[in-house]
Amino acid sequence: MRKPFVAGNWKMNKTVAESRHLVSELVPGLQAIDGVDKVLCPPFTSLLAVAALLEGTDIGLGAQNIHWETAGAFTGEISPPMVAEYCQYVILGHSERRAYFGETDETVNRKIKAALAHDLTPILCVGETLEENEAERTKEVISRQVREDLYGLEGMIEPGNESPLVIAYEPIWAIGTGMAATADGAAAVVSDVIRPTLSDLFGEAFAQTVRVLYGGSVKGGNAAEFFSQPEIDGGLIGGASLKVADFIEIVQAAS
Ligand code: 13P
Repeated sequence: MRKPFVAGNWKMNKTVAESRHLVSELVPGLQAIDGVDKVLCPPFTSLLAVAALLEGTDIGLGAQNIHWETAGAFTGEISPPMVAEYCQYVILGHSERRAYFGETDETVNRKIKAALAHDLTPILCVGETLEENEAERTKEVISRQVREDLYGLEGMIEPGNESPLVIAYEPIWAIGTGMAATADGAAAVVSDVIRPTLSDLFGEAFAQTVRVLYGGSVKGGNAAEFFSQPEIDGGLIGGASLKVADFIEIVQAAS
């Protein structure tokens, strides 16, 4: 049995003061929900403040990116050990980073390895564009992303052990558009593409331990539909993770 997992990706939203306010409103509701791994991913500048507010709760903390090097002359970047001081998780390969900041499967792969080396659990995002979807290239695109992003991890992943990896299937056309995938369609990508590719790479036992989330226009009103699919283990939530009632309803739906 895979434990349900819900993470809020705040993207580039919330100052420190706003983050404190949102977290203080979220914590009581989230703390009352058992049986779900709950994770907040605020911007870097808010990690310290949010970490302090989450101390003593069962709510995890994640960053939205890292560089793959440990230290050095990389102006403006944040290293894995810097993030690991506060976080247990890091979102990697989000489609917005691939589209606007030149991230490739190769750089995502380096970041995944760096995260694992510093005991950060990567939340790896994969997803196809609308154009690729309409050309029926979803399977090819997603399986390539999973293979290339997880290339060479054999030594870092112990087959049979609990998975140190979370994957989020986020079709790009569903992100922030209000046009979510269908629950059946998303589950089919997980069962027909993501898990078989993981099984190919690391064996079936390992593939069955990886939590695979759906992301893209998940709201309080449609979350239960996605989470009722046995193949979908939770959600990566953007816009709705900034709204207290909506996010709590989504986490509730996963429990
Ligand atoms: P929305 O929930 O706003 O569509 O964003 C999804 C997402 O990109 C989460 O990483």
